[in-house]
Amino acid sequence: MTVYLRALRLVNFRNYADATALLSPGLNIIVGDNAQGKTNLLEAISFTVTGSTPRTPRENEVVRWGEDFARTEARISLDGSTDERAVAIGYAPGQKKRITVDGAPGPSLTNYAAGGAGARVVTFFPDDIRVVKGAPADRREFLDTLLSSLRPAYARAVVEYAKAVGQRNQLLRRIRDGFSSERTLATWDRKVVDFGKVVLEGREAAMEPLEEYFRDSLRVLYGSEKAAIRYSYTTTLGDYSEALREAHATDIDRGTTSIGPHRDDFEVLLGGVNLTMFGSQGQQRLATLALKFAARDYVRGMVGEDPILLFDDVMSELDESRREYLAGYFLESTQAVISTTNLEYFGSDILQRTRIIRISGGSILETATNGVRK
Ligand SMILES: Nc1ncnc2c1ncn2[C@@H]1O[C@H](COP(=O)(O)OP(=O)(O)OP(=O)(O)O)[C@@H](O)[C@H]1O
Ligand SMILES: [Mg+2]
Repeated sequence: MTVYLRALRLVNFRNYADATALLSPGLNIIVGDNAQGKTNLLEAISFTVTGSTPRTPRENEVVRWGEDFARTEARISLDGSTDERAVAIGYAPGQKKRITVDGAPGPSLTNYAAGGAGARVVTFFPDDIRVVKGAPADRREFLDTLLSSLRPAYARAVVEYAKAVGQRNQLLRRIRDGFSSERTLATWDRKVVDFGKVVLEGREAAMEPLEEYFRDSLRVLYGSEKAAIRYSYTTTLGDYSEALREAHATDIDRGTTSIGPHRDDFEVLLGGVNLTMFGSQGQQRLATLALKFAARDYVRGMVGEDPILLFDDVMSELDESRREYLAGYFLESTQAVISTTNLEYFGSDILQRTRIIRISGGSILETATNGVRK
């Protein structure tokens, strides 16, 4: 397990004009005061490895104010020694992204996101608590991001499925308003089911291993109460076509597709209690972390390589024993990049084995290995 990021250059990315960070395998800690660019740097790593930002659907926000493009470049170590891949993403709002891998034009965005860089990431941003606390869409996004990073076919199906549902919805409204007949629905039903099946199958196959990893992680993070995740279907694979047909009348009436993976959800349970509805803030936060750790284990199981862990400000709301556990977890990871305002969260034994990246005002001031300031 040897894939890690060696270096990252950011040009006009958020508050960085032009900066380069060197990274190590194992634990890297980005340290700086509030509003200096810690989260931006983690976002840039994710952007470079996956081809898009996990932080916002309005991607033009990543371009440094007053500039008209953003660019990031990374060197990724593939086997721990000399085998290295150079990737770059150029982005100008309104234009197609330019992805290059070792200097040559890269694969399509979906293929790139499914491991085209040779690496994968699992991210944790403070707002990610919504995976447990938020709406079903937040939980579906968690699954779709994870599974899309592993299989181009899944990534494509998610995109095509959303399109097909959108078109079916348009048709439903036309039928409702008397501009089309119900017979025309069959074609779109078929399309929706074709892509929807790939999505459902992918999620179905993932739930069992994910649950096991999730349970193990939450046991360590929280305690012995039994944790579970339960997929809740609006239709199962076997019934899909028929259920969609049976839903015609309701769907036409509402002008929207009422069943399928775009309406599914999963329950996050601890000791039988649904954490989305009844979890405390702390339980929801720890369960979110456990889901991210489960994602790490799932990637490891599927591709035999650890994803790069990008965890933003994860220590601040945890008690000391959990901080210690997490620090150990990150140290033992192939590569983890985390951010903090406060190095005192980490003991000197941990800092000894860590690369520290100090930032201020969109500049990378210094990086030091072994926690020793240069
Ligand atoms: N496109 C952009 N161009 C220039 N600056 C930006 C852009 N987007 C965000 N910023 C600024 O970058 C600064 C640093 O943001 P960032 O979220 O990385 O801070 P941070 O170090 O994580 O702080 P905190 O500790 O508060 O989380 C903010 O002041 C933000 O306003
Ligand atoms: Mg931040």
